[in-house]
Formats: sequence, C-alpha cells, structure tokens
Amino acid sequence: MKILVYGAGAIGQFVGGMLVRGGAEVHLIGRPALVSALAAAPLQVQDLDGSVHTIRLTVSATLAEAPAIPDLVILTVKGPATAEAAADLAGHLPAATPVLSFQNGVDNVARISAAAPGLAALAGMVPYNVVQIAPGQVRRTSDGQLMAERAPVTEALLAICERAGLALDLRSDMRAVQWGKLLLNLNNPLNALSGLPLRQQLLDRGYRCLLADLQQEALAVLDRAAEPVAQVTPLPPRWLPRLLRLPTWLFKPLAARMLKISPEARSSMYDDRLAGRPTEIDDLCGAVVRCADSVQQLAPKNLALARLVREAPAGRWYGAAEIAAALRS
Ligand SMILES: NC(=O)c1ccc[n+]([C@@H]2O[C@H](COP(=O)([O-])OP(=O)(O)OC[C@H]3O[C@@H](n4cnc5c(N)ncnc54)[C@H](OP(=O)(O)O)[C@@H]3O)[C@@H](O)[C@H]2O)c1
Repeated sequence: MKILVYGAGAIGQFVGGMLVRGGAEVHLIGRPALVSALAAAPLQVQDLDGSVHTIRLTVSATLAEAPAIPDLVILTVKGPATAEAAADLAGHLPAATPVLSFQNGVDNVARISAAAPGLAALAGMVPYNVVQIAPGQVRRTSDGQLMAERAPVTEALLAICERAGLALDLRSDMRAVQWGKLLLNLNNPLNALSGLPLRQQLLDRGYRCLLADLQQEALAVLDRAAEPVAQVTPLPPRWLPRLLRLPTWLFKPLAARMLKISPEARSSMYDDRLAGRPTEIDDLCGAVVRCADSVQQLAPKNLALARLVREAPAGRWYGAAEIAAALRS
C-alpha cells in the first residue's frame, strides 16, 4: 500500500515510520526542517518499550514532489491547518482518494469534506502521546491503540499495522470515539497553561479537579445533545470526573495506567503555546461550546478556558487556583 502522510510532525513521523515497518511504502509531507533532517539521517522512531527503529522513507515539503499517487492519505496536521491541507490534497489527488484523519477533535472529517468534497474523508483517533525530540526523531510516551473508521482501505491497513506491531481497532462509532477522546484532551489546555510535565500536572489534585469540572460540563452538554460517548480508557467516561477528584494518594494507584507517561512528556498544546503557534483550543473546548450552543445550553467553564488559552501571554504559566478563578469568572 502506498501511503502519504500529510503534516509529518510528532504523530505523522511516528505512524508513518511504523507503517514502513509493516511493509507500506510511505512518503511524508513535512516542513523543510524535516526534509533536511531526513536527507542527513534516517528517521528514528522510539516506541513505548524503549526500542528505537531506524527507518528509511521519502519526504518532501510539497505534494508536487511526492513520488506516486497514494492509496491512502493519513492527515496529521493540527486542526487549524486541516482545511488548507485538504484543499491542497484535492488539487493533486484523484477523486475518491481516502484521507484518514489521525487528528484530535470531532470536526476534522467535516472540514476535509467541506474543503475537498471529492476526497473520501475517514475518521481516526490516536490515543497515545508522541513527542518530537527533533525533526526526524520521535518518541511514543504512553500506551493505547489506534482507532479508525471501518472501510475497505482501513481493513487493508489492518494487516500492515499488525506486521508493524501497531495496534489498530476498526470501529463503526468513530464520532462517539472522538468525543470520548475529546473528554481526555480537555486536559491539553490545562497542561499547556500549567507549563508542567503531564505526569506532574496530573498528580496535582487542583488541576485534576479542573479537568473533572470541564469533563462534567461536556458530558452534560453531550447528554442534552444525545451525542453518544465511547469508552476509550479502562473506565467508562462518566466515571472519569469521579476518579480525577479523588485525593492523590488514592488516585495514584487507581489511575496507574493513565499515569504511565514518560516523566518529561507534555501535551502538544504546550509546545504550540511555547512556540507561539495557533493551538487546537477551538477543536477541544470550542467544540464543547458549539455543541452546547446547538442545544441552547451553556458551557461556561469550557468557554472561559478557551478564552484564557487565547489571551494568555506567551511564557506565562498558571497555577490551578488561578485557572479556577478564571473559570469562575
Ligand atoms: N502529539 C501527540 O501526542 C498527539 C496525540 C494524539 C493526537 N494528536 C493529534 O494529532 C494531530 C497532529 O499532532 P502532532 O502533535 O503530530 O502535531 P505537529 O507535531 O504540530 O505536526 C503537524 C505538522 O504538520 C506540519 N504542517 C502543517 N501544515 C503543513 C503543510 N501544509 N505542509 C507541510 N507540513 C505542514 C506542521 O508544521 P508547522 O508546525 O510549521 O505548521 C507540523 O510539523 C493533532 O490533531 C493532535 O491533536 C497528537
């Protein structure tokens, strides 16, 4: 299978690299820094068990330089870049080329379909954290299995993933899966504002209670909107706020799997804030607010957190009490 990964950052390099291990022919579309790095040395992909795979694949900064028409596109740009990426793909690829979104949020399939109605957009979900150590070097820092919409092309991808040791679950309820993941991703803005590594931030009950409040608000909105929410962690989604509010001494053993993250890992929204790039806040808290609007309900905490992320000055980090005060206002 010829696979084109469009937007090769942390996730794109990890998934693309692993798929080469499974026998796919992968071409990456990335920024010039990645193109230069991979001209100098092969891609280095470190998996959760510490094993490092050295992978040779092709890369270019533009679609015009891509070597072949792909059987499948995997889209891994951040949400704000989706529409532009989809329009670029539509300008270069034959109609009906499948485009699998391995992005967070619930809106990217609709964005791809709107910007590129001729392409076949498919939903996917990446449950784990991947960090880019440097262009051409990525490391997976937590566990879980990829999920994707069941379709002939993802059925074919399954065999490649199996050979690569890359767990993939094919589903027919991807919207519910994406809402289930979004509940967990509501921690990304808190992590980005805290400036702390994820593990350290999750071990602080103040931040956990904020996350519980955001999730509870989102769950109430989703109930009202009759949007199903799939279980994407060992615990059903409705139990998550209760788990998060437990005292840390009790949370730590019960959430051992959630805390199995490399000590230095942070959310990629932290990286975006640090680099002054647009964040995915509109795809996360913004999606909850839009869903609330659609059923004439309010989501004041998600609304306030989205505003805080947009307005927070670069380099300013926030304690849990400060964020709580902003959410109350
Ligand atoms: N990283 C994680 O742990 C993780 C886990 C689960 C899900 N996700 C989701 O997966 C998606 C990708 O995340 P990520 O962390 O891999 O993001 P990322 O590291 O920022 O990767 C996206 C890459 O695409 C590049 N890009 C954007 N537009 C491009 C274009 N037109 N041509 C070439 N390159 C382009 C970006 O460059 P610029 O930065 O220069 O624009 C960036 O290098 C997001 O939706 C994220 O929420 C991430």
